[in-house]
Amino acid sequence: YSSEEQNILDAYEWSNKLFHHVLKHTKDGKDALNYVKNRGFSKDAIEEFQLGYSPYKDQFLSAFLKGKGFELENLAQYGLLNSRDGNSFFDRFQGRVIFPIHNHQGKVVGFGGRSIQDHLEPKYLNSPESKLFHKGKILYNFHRARKYFQKLNQVVLFEGYADVIKAYQAGVHHAVATMGTSLSETHAKILSHYVDEVIICYDGDAPGREASFKTAKIIKNAGMNARVANVPNEMDPDDFFEKHGPEAFQNLIQSAENDVSFSLQYIKKNYNLNIDHDRVQYVEKALDIIATVNQAVERDFYLNDLEEMFKLDRSTLLQEIENRRRIMQ
Ligand code: UTP
Ligand code: MN
Ligand code: MN
Ligand code: MN
Ligand code: MN
Repeated sequence: YSSEEQNILDAYEWSNKLFHHVLKHTKDGKDALNYVKNRGFSKDAIEEFQLGYSPYKDQFLSAFLKGKGFELENLAQYGLLNSRDGNSFFDRFQGRVIFPIHNHQGKVVGFGGRSIQDHLEPKYLNSPESKLFHKGKILYNFHRARKYFQKLNQVVLFEGYADVIKAYQAGVHHAVATMGTSLSETHAKILSHYVDEVIICYDGDAPGREASFKTAKIIKNAGMNARVANVPNEMDPDDFFEKHGPEAFQNLIQSAENDVSFSLQYIKKNYNLNIDHDRVQYVEKALDIIATVNQAVERDFYLNDLEEMFKLDRSTLLQEIENRRRIMQ
């Protein structure tokens, strides 16, 4: 790290310690601590993930850091503070529960701040992109999860901070999150150095399913196997944990289906299968997906379904697969 970057890392470290202390031990943090507990975050998880709180005050963190001798202007450039016209500085994350974001070496390089009041928008405010914090490269919880996913040769991928923490509470330690954005090719490449399989466990809403479909492709292109957990409609993994508990949560992960089954099911939404024209279109798309499967036995398994579902001739299907695979070579 350059000396400027080291200075920023130090400031993030101090801020993290301060916020964590505020949440656990101060009057300023009392409502936030209640919020966190009511949402089902355990004491152990609050420690492990170093959750914190930034009080609803303009000059709480900024005064503290000034007292430590930091140049507030530099900190504003890295999004730790906000500034008014570049000369007065104030707290960026005020009124928010703090989720510290570590880089893959384990240094705090950003915060995710969760509003605990409805009127305070957006729901999550994150540190902005900087030389130290690239959302397209960093995965939340990577530095803690690494030894687990390396050993298991599998990683579980979530959307949000809360999902990863509930996974931890359910004993699922090989978990990371993309923090709202989708998995980048860079993320996938990094993961492919450690694991052969990614279990996608995104939210069970329409955007979550769409993202699962796209992410599965990125994972496969990076040479890994992809599976998709069946998170119930309009729930996210965090909700699922609260509603069904740790064993069911583990089950949800373990019973994730393979990406081809998921994709064949997912694309059906684009077609009205009562209409001939749509049926043909669906079969074409389904064949595109099945053709990407390298094992003949596995392809056969999906072709069985198509054959039965649409009363199609097996030799025609096989011919279509062969054509597609020839082009792919
Ligand atoms: P979600 O909207 O699914 O949030 O976004 P969540 O994690 O379920 O939030 P809770 O349970 O209501 O607290 C998933 C992730 O997307 C990013 C955050 O990283 C969040 O964890 N996000 C979401 C933002 O960066 N900004 C937002 O306004 C919303
Ligand atoms: Mn602590
Ligand atoms: Mn969501
Ligand atoms: Mn969610
Ligand atoms: Mn949630």
